[in-house]
Amino acid sequence: MKITQFVCAIALGMVAVSPVQASEEIIKKARCVACHAVDQKRVGPAYKDVAAKYKGQGDAVAVLSAKVRNGGTGNWGQIPMPPHGADKISDADLKAAIEWILKL
Ligand code: HEC
Repeated sequence: MKITQFVCAIALGMVAVSPVQASEEIIKKARCVACHAVDQKRVGPAYKDVAAKYKGQGDAVAVLSAKVRNGGTGNWGQIPMPPHGADKISDADLKAAIEWILKL
């Protein structure tokens, strides 16, 4: 395969899976959906409420990534979020998921 064809094939592959779908797949795969929905409070806050709360906060991706990784409580109530280790969600997937949530 010529290099130009190769590059085109990769570009087409990226278009086929849009970032939104990819991030929804991540939160399904990492089982975040067991406790979270986009626009309804379940065990944890609705992702739209999370996005509203952290709107305009420059370090939100770092702060929220650490929270999901290490778990914690107190920002939304007394129910804790359990920690999510790298075996459950990789650094790259976690970042993509948080960025997706913050854009809701
Ligand atoms: C067992 C239930 C549960 C699971 C699974 C879960 N969460 Fe949560 N999540 C919670 C609860 C409860 C809170 C509220 C914690 C608090 O009050 O500080 C929360 C809070 C959050 C917040 C806001 C944190 C803050 O400090 O404001 C984000 C972002 C979040 N979760 C993302 C995720 C992602 C991404 C996943 C999957 C990797 C996930 N959650 C999986 C229960 C869960």
